[in-house]
Amino acid sequence: MTRSFPPAFLFGAATAAYQIEGAAFEDGRTASIWDHFARVPGAVINADNGDVATDHYRLYREDVALMKRLGLQTYRFSTSWSRVRPDGGPVNQKGIDFYSRLVDELLEADILPWLTLHHWDMPQALEEKGGWTSRDTVDRFVEYALSMHDALGDRVTKWTTHNEPWCSSFLSYTAGAHAPGRQSVRDGLLASHHLLLSHGRTVQELRGRDEGLDLGITLNLTNGEPVDPQDPGDRDAARRIDGQFNRWFLEPIFRGAYPADAVEDIRAVDAAAVAEFEAAVQDGDLAAAAAPIDFLGVNYYHGEFVSGRPSETPVRGGEAPTDRPTGSPFPAAQSVFWHERGYDRTNMGWEVDFAGLTDLLTRVSDDYAAAAGVPLYVTENGAAYDDEVTDGAVHDAERVAFVRGHVAAVLDAIEAGADVRGYFYWSLLDNYEWAWGYEKRFGIVHVDYDSQVRTVKDSGHEYARIIAARAVDA
Ligand code: NOJ
Repeated sequence: MTRSFPPAFLFGAATAAYQIEGAAFEDGRTASIWDHFARVPGAVINADNGDVATDHYRLYREDVALMKRLGLQTYRFSTSWSRVRPDGGPVNQKGIDFYSRLVDELLEADILPWLTLHHWDMPQALEEKGGWTSRDTVDRFVEYALSMHDALGDRVTKWTTHNEPWCSSFLSYTAGAHAPGRQSVRDGLLASHHLLLSHGRTVQELRGRDEGLDLGITLNLTNGEPVDPQDPGDRDAARRIDGQFNRWFLEPIFRGAYPADAVEDIRAVDAAAVAEFEAAVQDGDLAAAAAPIDFLGVNYYHGEFVSGRPSETPVRGGEAPTDRPTGSPFPAAQSVFWHERGYDRTNMGWEVDFAGLTDLLTRVSDDYAAAAGVPLYVTENGAAYDDEVTDGAVHDAERVAFVRGHVAAVLDAIEAGADVRGYFYWSLLDNYEWAWGYEKRFGIVHVDYDSQVRTVKDSGHEYARIIAARAVDA
């Protein structure tokens, strides 16, 4: 059956500055926490770094031409704080100029720029002053946001404050799997609060300057499904996952409060850390975090099949995907264990679960977004597979099925009543997959890292067909 998308629905693809730009120390850019972390022995597979990446800083015109060929209506990218305000200091005009040229190129190609201010690459100099655990970083972020708006506010209307603050806080400051690699419950909590506060303050400031902007945030959200819904321990594991991954961010943004059950889960693990966190939450902070937004970005990759007991059989894909260990280091989810449910898995070890996307969008809509009148966008969804170029083509049949299945799942959510207005595939290009370096290829366009030659994969051709038809067979 052929099913059509609503006329205003936007199709796009996403990238992030550190993962694609390269030119890491050119035109005044200085180190971000990822330049630093990538050089810590053992932090990143093959000690890969983003010095060159996909060389998008030089090849951006070619990349925009590719987007145009694919028929993308919108392109989600991030700006590099370290390029625009090296070391978190004064504005670097050359850095601003790059984004200005990129935006002009996109507009010329009739592609809507969808800008993210922070996709994990904070200046290393700020990390050395405390990073996201320091309240001062909030002011530095707002300054940076305003300088981007000074430069691009006349041409960019879609502004996202943060990408996946769960990753920039708990994964980075508590689990230590991402830059800056700290391992502290306290630091993860403080980072999460300052990220949320900086989000809200930025929304307030930008709104004060220009009521015409569309302002939002992108969260990585998931479904926690209990292995046995009758088992209280399994149900509690699912509740904990929801608290740690979803509600820790959704509740402050939509309701101006942290979820009390998750706070207590963490207090049971580290009471001193929670005391410091509570002391750091000042009057007015949560009201700021709850500043009204114009959209919520949902990044969805897979769900979690969880129990209060360890699995007796090995969990496939459990060989350390960086953000989903089999037992959890995350403070509100310490007694949570992942189990196997037999779904296909991508090269990251992540389950392919189309219906999970429908469930997630419906749930976020019902519990948060619909009442606030906030539309949803799937700002990331994608899969890594082992792709090879043969005779100028990449036959990535699994990714073709992945894209089809997920865009159809978005349609299911729309039909179930969720206000979902767009879908961005992650990623346009193969790129630097953080702690996995260049080993994992998520692109609908293949990149040969030696020659920087781009090859559209079969999934890219399929996505282009879906966009052109504004419909999918499913
Ligand atoms: C989420 C992140 O936003 C993105 O940077 C990353 O590459 C993808 N997920 C895949 O892991």
